[in-house]
Amino acid sequence: MSFKPTSILVTGGAGFIGANFIHSFVGNNPECSVTNLDCLTYAGNLKNLAALEGNSRFRFIKGDIGDAALVAGILADHKIDAVVHFAAESHVDRSITGPEIFVRTNVLGTQILLEESRKHWQSGVVENFRYLQISTDEVYGSLGETGYFTEETPLTTNSPYSASKAGADLLVHAYHETFGMPTLNTRCSNNYGPYHFPEKLIPLLIHNIINKKPLPVYGDGLNVRDWLHVRDHAVAIETVLKNAAPGSVYNIGGNNEWKNIDIVHLVCDELDSRLGRDAGENRNLITFVKDRLGHDRRYAIDATKLKADLGWTPSYTFERGIAETIDWYLDNQEWVAEVTSGAYREYYEKQYGGGVA
Ligand code: NAD
Ligand code: TYD
Repeated sequence: MSFKPTSILVTGGAGFIGANFIHSFVGNNPECSVTNLDCLTYAGNLKNLAALEGNSRFRFIKGDIGDAALVAGILADHKIDAVVHFAAESHVDRSITGPEIFVRTNVLGTQILLEESRKHWQSGVVENFRYLQISTDEVYGSLGETGYFTEETPLTTNSPYSASKAGADLLVHAYHETFGMPTLNTRCSNNYGPYHFPEKLIPLLIHNIINKKPLPVYGDGLNVRDWLHVRDHAVAIETVLKNAAPGSVYNIGGNNEWKNIDIVHLVCDELDSRLGRDAGENRNLITFVKDRLGHDRRYAIDATKLKADLGWTPSYTFERGIAETIDWYLDNQEWVAEVTSGAYREYYEKQYGGGVA
């Protein structure tokens, strides 16, 4: 029997995936209220949720997942029966230059959220409860040229980011085993789509091409990622939340592997015509730079279990998804200008010594 949440707490809902999830979930669940807890780091922006302003089923609370009293109050006041936990530091490069905040937010923050969720669930205030941890394929480490990550692949992490996400996943597992808490855990491949902060590969490429800035390709450009449209991810999360057995782990992936350099070429070429430039002109912006430290070579998700158990498959073709994403960025240059000012500029200038549009 499927679980029907009535009041969910989303953490990190002002970020890329959280915001897309909230839009999708609110649209699909007219009976359920949604509370978004987000402390608005450089990666969080309330503009991502502007369309929900004035919606009586949606509320935003500015705060930190590490604030136990605040979390406890929200869970009790709003009779939360499901927590969907996105809030995190999410950029691998930042975890290399400053790992501490990754441990604080992703590990300690998750532990505090789990602990308050446990007390709330055990208090019996709500009849039914789920805690859903949003994780990443990066917890499985790196693949060679063949093979796929399944839910049974051991966690083997290579970056402070992935290590902190794996630490959180292990805590979630421990809360299920120790307390019998009804937890769920999803591990998704690389997402792309609207509201993606332009420090990540695809939106960075679009942003820099528009502004005729260099396109930094790490190492030989042959690392492989498996790309999934963020709206497909949102639907997968809702499917798992409502239908998965407590304690389960599900991989989510697009079955859509690309070498980085091929993505760079694709985005360059798509933008040639849209920007009225000559065919091949944007490729002149490609600049090979020093490789990322500990750079994982290949990620590829086996999402068979999710399809077999719960019937989920992606709906976007990559062709359609990337074209729509590029158009979204062209149509939302004001958003890009806002999020790329301030903290982003400083960070990017430090990384590349200028070149920020
Ligand atoms: P993001 O960086 O765009 O957004 C993170 C959000 O969390 C921001 O709104 C930020 O303000 C908020 N936040 C950070 N620290 C917080 C704290 N202490 N308290 C409250 N809010 C806080 O991240 P994203 O790309 O949307 O990723 C969301 C989740 O999905 C993360 O857990 C990430 O590990 C996971 N994930 C991401 C991808 C991807 O491709 N982006 C793929 C798989 C899994
Ligand atoms: P990213 O979007 O940071 O996601 P992740 O590291 O979580 O997979 O990077 C995707 C791939 O693109 C990764 O192999 C690193 C590479 N990359 C570049 O080559 N140049 C860039 O400027 C960035 C941000 C990433």
